[in-house]
Amino acid sequence: MVVNKPRLQVLLNDVSAYGRAFLEDDESARSALVTQARALLAELENPNETITWLAWAEPTRRAALEIAIAIGLFPQLTSPRTASQLSMTCKTSSRLMERLLRHLVATSVIVKSGPSSFAATPLSRALCDPTCSAALTWSSGLPAPVLARLPAYLAESRYREPQDPSKGPFQFAFNTDMTPWQWAATQKGLPQAFSQHMSGYHAERPSWMDEGFYPVRTRLGDGMKSRDNEVLIVDVGGGLGHDLEELKTKCPGLAAKGRLVLQELRQTARSAKMSRPWLEVIEHDFFKPQPIKNARTYYMHSVLHDWSDENCKRILRQLKAAMEPSYSKILINENVVPETGASWKMTSLDWIMMATGASAERTETQWRELITSVGLRVEGIWTKDPSCESLIEVTRDEVARL
Ligand SMILES: C[S@@+](CC[C@H](N)C(=O)[O-])C[C@H]1O[C@@H](n2cnc3c(N)ncnc32)[C@H](O)[C@@H]1O
Repeated sequence: MVVNKPRLQVLLNDVSAYGRAFLEDDESARSALVTQARALLAELENPNETITWLAWAEPTRRAALEIAIAIGLFPQLTSPRTASQLSMTCKTSSRLMERLLRHLVATSVIVKSGPSSFAATPLSRALCDPTCSAALTWSSGLPAPVLARLPAYLAESRYREPQDPSKGPFQFAFNTDMTPWQWAATQKGLPQAFSQHMSGYHAERPSWMDEGFYPVRTRLGDGMKSRDNEVLIVDVGGGLGHDLEELKTKCPGLAAKGRLVLQELRQTARSAKMSRPWLEVIEHDFFKPQPIKNARTYYMHSVLHDWSDENCKRILRQLKAAMEPSYSKILINENVVPETGASWKMTSLDWIMMATGASAERTETQWRELITSVGLRVEGIWTKDPSCESLIEVTRDEVARL
């Protein structure tokens, strides 16, 4: 195999430098180290190794992980266990357990801790948390089968970007007329898996409510009216309400200034009320007229990326009609894809959006075009880490422009 030695040398130097910084407690060096270590692996592996990993290891590891989650294997590894102990507690045949453990060790999900015992890793420990494992349940239930059919869909559509969310790759893959949300609601456990996945996904990412991201207290709190029943924030399509809970925890003074309202489709609204009884939950379809008028803030987190431009305009127009000019704000918490150097997380999500909703992650230019096309104004875009979601603040002028 021909290795590009000068490039290899650069990568080795980077890995060594970031590795040293990380060992000296520079936590910020960790993500650079991961990026460069991945690049090093890509440079070093021969194509056959990479292809075999893609074709064999990825799908089989994925299947093994889901089986391990379903049988409750990982919570058993709080201390080292043998294969026969595990097959008894997880109620599998001993042969199947041996093969499962062997593959999970070979693909670094768990480790061998002795001649016949197995132990946890940070990954297997994380997968004991349902908000982490739900990512796999959700992905297998909806995006993965659609992505498997995406090549056939695009071949049939002569390689045109999917535009029509009612006749996109999702409907093609599942042979249905429903939207992904309607369809998911008919699948046992899938809406819950999705909501849990969303909670886990957002947990370790920079949040606009953290110090140094977006000046929450001044931009929302200053100038807020003290009317009866004033609404501080409506979390539109807010899932189970983890963002409202975060606001209450991180900005208690601001949260006390007005009502915090969650709006969701029926099933998720019910689950939200059950999981956070203190929440004010309203069942609402965001394509219909917004029932809460003149709120200080209408907030949408990872909502618009699910929808095509035309549907986003319908959603935004409903909010615009409810907004008090020069007072209400819309906060859009979404990825703003950099024109160059987009992270694999953003490009992957972009493809998931293409497959599931005929929609997309948007660049700054695309966000601005979308928002101004319905006569709203972009007041600013706040970004902490270009590989994570930004916060876009949107207002409505006194005299609506469109
Ligand atoms: C990607 S999730 C984001 C959830 C939440 N904002 C978060 O960040 O975790 C999109 C949410 O939109 C909700 N949704 C989809 N269609 C909707 C509609 N027509 N009206 C209201 N909510 C809807 C879904 O139930 C889902 O919870």
